[in-house]
Amino acid sequence: MNQAPAMPGTRSIGTVAMRWHGSSLELLDQRLLPDQEVWLRLDTADAVAGAIRDMVVRGAPAIGISAAYGAALAARTASGENWRAQVDHSIRVLAESRPTAVNLFWALKRMQEILAGCSTRADAIEQLGLAAVSIHQEDLAANLAMAEHALMHMKTDQPVSVLTHCNTGALATGGYGTALGVVRRLHEAGMLVNAFADETRPWLQGSRLTSWELTRDGIPVTLNADSAAATILASGKVSWVIVGADRITANGDVANKIGTYSLAVLARYHGVGFMVVAPSSTVDMALASGREIPIEERDGQELRRVRELPMAPASVAVFNPVFDVTPAALVDVIVTEKGVVSRPDVAGMTRLFG
Ligand code: MRU
Repeated sequence: MNQAPAMPGTRSIGTVAMRWHGSSLELLDQRLLPDQEVWLRLDTADAVAGAIRDMVVRGAPAIGISAAYGAALAARTASGENWRAQVDHSIRVLAESRPTAVNLFWALKRMQEILAGCSTRADAIEQLGLAAVSIHQEDLAANLAMAEHALMHMKTDQPVSVLTHCNTGALATGGYGTALGVVRRLHEAGMLVNAFADETRPWLQGSRLTSWELTRDGIPVTLNADSAAATILASGKVSWVIVGADRITANGDVANKIGTYSLAVLARYHGVGFMVVAPSSTVDMALASGREIPIEERDGQELRRVRELPMAPASVAVFNPVFDVTPAALVDVIVTEKGVVSRPDVAGMTRLFG
């Protein structure tokens, strides 16, 4: 397989972020979009871990899928009698790349379980490769299922406008997207007037990636500064705020890109629905609430500069948490491939995720 997994029917899954070649992984360098489309070819787990850390690839599901391919590469590059210890070590390195998206740990745990069942390195090369491709394919299938569930839940008979945050599209997943998959599905069904895309400071996933992805696929999108979201919601133009997630805890709290929490507050104030769309690999039933989620803080340079351009004094102190936690009480519905949880709480989450 050297592209995204095969799609049922003819539906477009958007621009893929990853290409697996069996002995190497190609990643579209998302740091350079939208002005340059550069593919990087990686052939070691360490290189994949570096690419995740440096945001060549990002978005919770895409991080998990890439890490799975990284583990498969580790089996290829391992050698000698202690090959298994080398693969274990690489899996630990991959796990240290980013802390918040639980999809990373979910995928690596699955790879570790496969590894435990392999008796030879040749077996591990084959089985880990197959497992990584399955993780990729399952994510795409989950996205398609979630989009159907979301549309059924929205029960809209009129075309609607929505507002989204960060990038949750084909670039952030195995293809199609989570929240952006719902946007794609609305468009395919002739039910989308417009998608407002928050620019998503400071890394600009909304302006650089979401508006690029949607424009490229002919889906109506309007880019707005994050601070314009209140005005847009107050205008009454938007029926749903739709976002993805990096981790959802047992009580329905949702960690997602910084700024999601403020959108949820705004949505509740303006009587706009707030929908979270994420595969079950984003659900972490081991954590009781969002207070337990490790929130990544990134380098202050991401705020002080945009690419190489200074935007602040070089020495200014910076607070740069890149995720926040939206309390379950502000979430109207969580949509997963397994079904939806309305007004999420422990009981609703347990019903679907045990
Ligand atoms: O820092 P990023 O770009 O990896 O953050 C991505 C997000 O917060 C997404 O909303 C989330 O991972 C869901 S992607 C389908």
